[in-house]
Amino acid sequence: MVLVTGGTGMLGAHLLVQLLDAGQTVRATYRTASSLEKAKHVFSYFTDQVDKEFSKIEWVQADVREVSSLEAAFQNIEKVYHLAALVSFDTSSYSKMRSVNIYGTANVVNMCLAYKVQKLCFVSSIAAISKTLNKPFIDEQDEFNLEENNYGYAITKYGAEMEVWRAAQEGLQVLIYNPGVILGAGFWRENSGALFSMTYKEFPFYTEGVTGFVGVEDVAALLVKGMDSEVTNERFVVVSENKSFKEIVDSIACFFEKKPPKIKVSKLLSALGWRLSWLKSKLTGAANTFSKHTAKAAHNSSYYRAEKVKKTFEFEFEPMEQVLKKVAKRFEEDLENKTST
Ligand SMILES: NC(=O)c1ccc[n+]([C@@H]2O[C@H](COP(=O)([O-])OP(=O)(O)OC[C@H]3O[C@@H](n4cnc5c(N)ncnc54)[C@H](OP(=O)(O)O)[C@@H]3O)[C@@H](O)[C@H]2O)c1
Repeated sequence: MVLVTGGTGMLGAHLLVQLLDAGQTVRATYRTASSLEKAKHVFSYFTDQVDKEFSKIEWVQADVREVSSLEAAFQNIEKVYHLAALVSFDTSSYSKMRSVNIYGTANVVNMCLAYKVQKLCFVSSIAAISKTLNKPFIDEQDEFNLEENNYGYAITKYGAEMEVWRAAQEGLQVLIYNPGVILGAGFWRENSGALFSMTYKEFPFYTEGVTGFVGVEDVAALLVKGMDSEVTNERFVVVSENKSFKEIVDSIACFFEKKPPKIKVSKLLSALGWRLSWLKSKLTGAANTFSKHTAKAAHNSSYYRAEKVKKTFEFEFEPMEQVLKKVAKRFEEDLENKTST
C-alpha cells in the first residue's frame, strides 16, 4: 500500500487520480472534510464515477506536525509520497512554515525509517535551488545558497530536503523532486491557480520575471515513474518550459478571450508595493501577501534545465501552451457549472 501526504492539495489530488488509474492501493492523509471535497472535485475532470473512484482511497486524518496522528497513517505502508506542505509568501507564516515543512518532513522521514518504508518520494521546489554565477541554467548540480537573502518558503523547502537526505544516510531510499511553478486545475483561489482567476478578471498588471513552469499531470506522472523505478537517492528539476509571467498570463487571457495585462510593474512600483503591504499588515493585522521577496521574485529571471529527469525516465513534458489551454478550459467549465473550488 502507498501513502500520500497532502492528498487534498492540487498536486496530491492529481497524483491520487493517477495512482488509482494504475491500480494501486492508496491511503492518503487529510486534515478537514472541506479539503476532501476539493480533492474530490479534481476527480470529476477524469471520471464520471467520482464517488466510486474517490471511495477507493483510505483517508486518514493526520497533521504532519503531530507524530501520534501519523501512526495510523503508516500502518502497512511500503511507499510514501510526501507532498504535504504549507505554501505561503505571507511573511507572518514563516514559523508555521518551518514547523509544517521542516519539522513535519522530519516526522515523516522518521516514521518511514521506523516503519521500514521501502521508498520515499519527496516534493521539494525549485525555490530550494539557487542560481550559480555565470551559469545560464539552474539544474540539480546547483545548491541552495545559504548566504543569499532567501525567502521563508525557500528556506523551509531547503530545510525539508536536508531532513530527507539525512534519512537517506540512515538507509531510507529517497527521490527528491524540484518542480517549477505547477499549473493545474481545481484550486483556483490558491497558489498558482490564482493566475487563472486573476487573468479571467482581467487583472491589469504584469512583471517581466521568468521562471520554470510545469503541468500538474506531468509532475504526478513523474512521481509515479520515479517511485516504480530502481532509481534512488537522486534529485530532479521538474520543469517543462521557462517562461515569463507575462507570456503565461497572455496565453491564458487569449484562451479566455479576455484582455491581457497591459500595465508593466516597474521595480520601483514593486518596491513601493511591498512596503505598503507590510504597513497595511502591521496596521490591520491582514496577511502580508506581497512581501519584499515576492516583489523581488516577480522581476527575477531564472532559467531551469530538466534534462536529467527527461533522460532518466525517458519523459517528454507536455508543452505549456497545451497545459494552459486545458486548464483554462476546466476553469471555464467549473465557472459554468458553478463548481469552482
Ligand atoms: N504549487 C506549486 O506551484 C508548487 C511548486 C513547486 C513545489 N510545490 C510543492 O508541491 C507540494 C504540493 O503542492 P500543492 O500545490 O499541491 O499545494 P497545496 O494545494 O497547498 O496542498 C498542500 C497540501 O498539504 C497539506 N498540508 C498542509 N499543512 C499540513 C499539515 N500540517 N499536515 C498535513 N498536511 C498538511 C494540505 O492539506 P489541507 O488541504 O488540509 O490544507 C494540502 O493537502 C508541496 O510540497 C509544495 O511545496 C508546489
